[in-house]
Amino acid sequence: MNDRLLLLRGTMPGIGMAVAEACSHRERLRRICSILSEIPGYDWVGFYTVDRPGGNRLVLGPFSGAPTEHVSIEFGRGICGRAAETMQTIMVGDVGAESNYLSCSPDVRSEIVVPVFFGCEFVGELDIDSHRPDGFSPDDRRFLEWVAEIAAPSVAGLVRGDDGG
Ligand code: SME
Repeated sequence: MNDRLLLLRGTMPGIGMAVAEACSHRERLRRICSILSEIPGYDWVGFYTVDRPGGNRLVLGPFSGAPTEHVSIEFGRGICGRAAETMQTIMVGDVGAESNYLSCSPDVRSEIVVPVFFGCEFVGELDIDSHRPDGFSPDDRRFLEWVAEIAAPSVAGLVRGDDGG
């Protein structure tokens, strides 16, 4: 197993514990962001949620990293909006080559956006920016799709407006 995969797997118990904590949905997601932000190359980590059940706009939820102006994104706009429209993971190795891209910082070189589903319902996204070109491998993608799956009940809770633990 390569070092990167070992490192990603090493964070899984902590993330599992974070989702099992008796705290609010927002706090669980905040803890997941904080754990992920320790991974080298994960330079901005955040969740977006749909604005309301069946909505067509993403709103910024818990995140770790520099504040972003992109706190509300229509489906279709930028990489986040495209992932929402297609409901597919999008990995961009060179954000400079993208025409439909919303820049948060000139330091960002690559990005991955993973949709979050609660059952069959699209409820939000996990978005990660990297200062490294081609910062995300297929192992990162599989790992982050796992994170999105276990974070889904909390993301869905925020969409419902139920921030209970
Ligand atoms: N770059 C994203 C916008 C969100 S920020 O990365 C936090 C996009 O193009 O949708």
